[in-house]
Amino acid sequence: MSAVTAARTPRVSGVRVAQQTLLHGLRTDSLLIRGVEGSDITKFTFNRRTAYVLKHPDYADHVLHGAVDRYHKSIEYELLRTVVGVSLFTDEDESWRRHRMILNPVLAKRHLTSVFDLMLAPIERFVERLKHGNSDRLEIDMTAGMTELTLDVVGSALFGHGMADLARRIGPDVTDGLRAAERATRLLLLANPPVWLVRLVAGIVDRAPMLPPPIGRLHQIMRTIDRMVWDVIHDRQEHPSDAEDVLGLLLSVRDEEGEPLPLRRVRDEAATFMLAGHETTANALSWMWYLLALNPDARERMLAEVDGVLRDRRPCFEDVARLPWTAACVQEAMRVYSPAWVLPRTCVEDDVIGGHRIKRGSTILIPINSLHHDERFWPDPEVFDPTRFLPERIKSHHRSAYLPFGGGRRVCIGKTFAMIEATLVTALMSRSFVYDLKPGHPVVPEATLTLRPRHGLKMIARRRGDGAATIEAAA
Ligand code: HEM
Repeated sequence: MSAVTAARTPRVSGVRVAQQTLLHGLRTDSLLIRGVEGSDITKFTFNRRTAYVLKHPDYADHVLHGAVDRYHKSIEYELLRTVVGVSLFTDEDESWRRHRMILNPVLAKRHLTSVFDLMLAPIERFVERLKHGNSDRLEIDMTAGMTELTLDVVGSALFGHGMADLARRIGPDVTDGLRAAERATRLLLLANPPVWLVRLVAGIVDRAPMLPPPIGRLHQIMRTIDRMVWDVIHDRQEHPSDAEDVLGLLLSVRDEEGEPLPLRRVRDEAATFMLAGHETTANALSWMWYLLALNPDARERMLAEVDGVLRDRRPCFEDVARLPWTAACVQEAMRVYSPAWVLPRTCVEDDVIGGHRIKRGSTILIPINSLHHDERFWPDPEVFDPTRFLPERIKSHHRSAYLPFGGGRRVCIGKTFAMIEATLVTALMSRSFVYDLKPGHPVVPEATLTLRPRHGLKMIARRRGDGAATIEAAA
């Protein structure tokens, strides 16, 4: 390939992007997601920061796989680390590698069989509450409902039956924490402080008398979550049990020298699983309910599959693999609306991507939704077509043209957990009800930390086999 200098990389003024990103959140029609028409790499600068948007899966592949050692997560993670702790999400280099090796088995399929019942119980409770609604015509805010449910599922899997209410108690703090993290990220982008300043602030967060409001708020919330999670860990140590929940697994893993994880690290990983693991899944499910309501044929096929496989019995772990169409609906929904919409990286060693020189210190943005809608890799990209993800076709896609869970070695560790959970939620909620859009409710994607419906998603739940009756929301 002939060498093209960075000066010839298509450039855009950062002003519009910066405004949308920093002040109002990012809409899916923004430049950052579309890039410059016809170009697979776009360079833009704003506030002394140089960023490249990579719109070709080969380029994304290079950053996530081939040249992965030249890229770290973006600089914002340095500050995040001191506020939310050092966990897989915020760690780097050798420490990340060592912990990822130790933690991989915790959320691996074979261990998830033991937390399957813990995942199932909150979903069954949610459906029971729906069933007990007896009003004729009532609506659900599906996004709020899915957020509550996914927090319950991850809380139950983490802390077991005994602590089923912990996630609910922490819930408002967790949601507040995510919103504060959003504001803190925007503040950092807006101020774009030099790296040395980020590191300095990161080093004194615990002792700083005053922090900018969103960072201070995030810190305060994390301390509350911290206390609650510590309480459970200490209680578990005082009353050891054979509980096969994720916390039990985190406490029992050993490194190659036979050493357990330090308790602080257990706490940080548990809190991260809760933060990283619920809103993403909730948004994936919300978008899926939305798309199913717009595509009745796909929905009918899903209902037929669920009825045929589950009938009236309690699902077992093996049933998840028997629901390929249901799982494909979840995967296709994540293609159309990917909850994680951008993968940010910092280049830590000079590199060349597709002939373009990338200097150390540059920001790299992989716009997931743009890759998911590229018609070179997804024919009729705007069409919701779950057949793309049926087992016989799944391997035919470019591995970096579909990145809802990221890619390469930093791929989401909760991916299998999330797919099992989302498939189960879809199947169990569909056994008794179908969900239609509430007429007139505006559905507008909003890209904040995750891509979510800006005004929530108001839906009408209709009891199956009874076209007239609608039910009261549990959410
Ligand atoms: C549909 C649901 C989910 C989506 C869309 C999602 C998406 C992602 C993405 C895109 C990344 C990579 C970020 C990057 O490379 O910059 C990631 C990483 C991560 N996710 Fe998820 N996630 C989901 C569910 C979960 C669940 C259920 C858990 C835990 C129970 C979880 C825990 C994590 C952790 C710890 C990481 C960091 C992994 C590492 O860097 O080694 N996620 N997730």
